[in-house]
Amino acid sequence: MKVKYEYLTQDIIDKIEEYRKEFPYYPQQLIIPALHEILYKYRDIPEEAIYELADYLKVHPSEVEGIVTFYDMFRHKKNAKHHIRICRNLPCHLAKYKNLLKMIENLTGAKAGGNSEDGMWYIELVECIGSCAIAPAFLIDDDLYDGSQIKSEEDLRKILEKYR
Ligand code: FES
Repeated sequence: MKVKYEYLTQDIIDKIEEYRKEFPYYPQQLIIPALHEILYKYRDIPEEAIYELADYLKVHPSEVEGIVTFYDMFRHKKNAKHHIRICRNLPCHLAKYKNLLKMIENLTGAKAGGNSEDGMWYIELVECIGSCAIAPAFLIDDDLYDGSQIKSEEDLRKILEKYR
């Protein structure tokens, strides 16, 4: 059967159907995993993909749109090669995410909310990413890191090197 969507390609649909086996009752439960697949593929959530996903899951587009706008992680920036997201909510605040942010800013040359001059990094402060147990938590692209394990700029430099 030919896929009728532009963004919801067969590989993404196959993944959604795998998730459906785990969450068979409510299509709403498939929205977040499906958005992750779309983000992984396009590094962004194209507007049209929201409508295609809603159509495929038979939910109202506002249900998908609501999730995209609620979670910062789905507002991906295309214009830098790597996207660093640092959680700033209470547990991460108490775990001194600001120290982590400062180190990341120093090493990348980017400031929170902006790109580095070399176009390598975009830093974004985000709301809870569901990883409070490893606060201050941060993501580089889709890789999750435990900020409490980073004791020095050297530790962080080793991580960043993997993306250069
Ligand atoms: S508050 Fe930072 S990951 Fe939950």
